[in-house]
Amino acid sequence: MISINSTQLHCDSFGDGPPLLLVHGFPLTGEMWHGVSLRLAHRWRCIIPDLRGHGRSPAIAEVSIARFSDDLAELLDALGESRPVVLIGLSMGGIIGFEFFRRYRARLRALVLTCTRANSESPEGAARREAVAEAVLREGSRAAVDAMIENVFAPGTPTPLRAYWHSVMCACPPFGVAAAARALAGRADSRPTLPQIDIPTLVIAGARDSITPVDTLREIHAGIRGSRLEIIESAGHVPPIEASAEFARILAEFLDALPA
Ligand code: MLT
Repeated sequence: MISINSTQLHCDSFGDGPPLLLVHGFPLTGEMWHGVSLRLAHRWRCIIPDLRGHGRSPAIAEVSIARFSDDLAELLDALGESRPVVLIGLSMGGIIGFEFFRRYRARLRALVLTCTRANSESPEGAARREAVAEAVLREGSRAAVDAMIENVFAPGTPTPLRAYWHSVMCACPPFGVAAAARALAGRADSRPTLPQIDIPTLVIAGARDSITPVDTLREIHAGIRGSRLEIIESAGHVPPIEASAEFARILAEFLDALPA
């Protein structure tokens, strides 16, 4: 556990070399990056937190995308990591990445935006997320997970893999899951940020993702000058889990081409 200003975060940090900050989605945990990070840690330092209210990090009743991104900056300080990082975010992790860019541009070397979205929430979407938050507080995290698990993985994903991640997601504390659902409902519109992104950016989509379909990622790619788009044919919403070797290969190629 790493103490930051207002809470503690569980964080794995391993490997040698320039820092990568890997930020998971909702309601997942840092474990989703392990297949990728183990392939990169011989040349990169992998910093992999469980965001507050997820995995082994304690929850608080309220959070926001801004708070998540401040947590990441405080985490880097607590780890003594002052070098600019490559932030690699999946879905909610990418949404946090946009906010991190707005707040901490100088701490970023590059961005990798995976299966994420730049828009703010629609009124209907916000109402759906509020209903999920209330169901989670009544019935437990499973209420959120059951509502989304069918769409997380590409059709045909082996049942044991899906069942394993279902249980990991269900184990996230209900307070944390409800708070994160509300944070997603209140997220800022990041579309005006896209033309401001002036650091190397890789956008990755899963061809079989029904939560953030490929066109959503194409729009992000089109909005960020000089960005690169990669589509992983076999993957749904969580390519780092579903296609970790291919994801790591694409990522390593991007990282190797970064200016020193
Ligand atoms: C995620 O993976 O972070 C979620 O799917 C985000 C969302 O529900 O928009």
